[in-house]
Amino acid sequence: MLKNLHLTFILLSLISFIGRVILSEINPILLKRKVFNITPHIINTLLIGSGFALVIQGGWLSGEYGWIVAKLLVLIGYIGLGVFVMKRHGAAKWLAFIAAMACIVYIGIVAVTKNVFFFI
Ligand code: HEM
Repeated sequence: MLKNLHLTFILLSLISFIGRVILSEINPILLKRKVFNITPHIINTLLIGSGFALVIQGGWLSGEYGWIVAKLLVLIGYIGLGVFVMKRHGAAKWLAFIAAMACIVYIGIVAVTKNVFFFI
């Protein structure tokens, strides 16, 4: 149940991020509206909150928890890249966008495999 909520917030977070990136290209004025400013913060808070609740529910801190630390570190990178994407234009913006998407994919794979170095 909680995991389904977590997965739903991930999807909503992705939709809101990609949606705002698209808006920043086609209609940046709309981004100034309260709904586009506040909603992503609510979704992302719920996403992180549900992640924390899953950590407690699953008793993950009493076992092997390196993958959770990796998720949090890469999450910070994802947030920083997201801020960068919304402030920049041109090649730097799209490079940061690709890097942000790579962070999400990494976080997702680490969540499933529980292996920080799944790629080696
Ligand atoms: C963008 C951010 C995040 C993404 C993309 C993400 C992705 C996922 C995915 C795909 C799963 C399902 C794994 C499975 O069913 O095997 C999951 C579960 C989980 N996530 Fe996240 N997550 C994110 C943020 C967080 C945060 C911030 C935390 C807490 C610090 C967290 C903690 C957990 C825990 C404890 C589980 C349950 C693992 C299990 O029971 O197997 N997640 N996450």
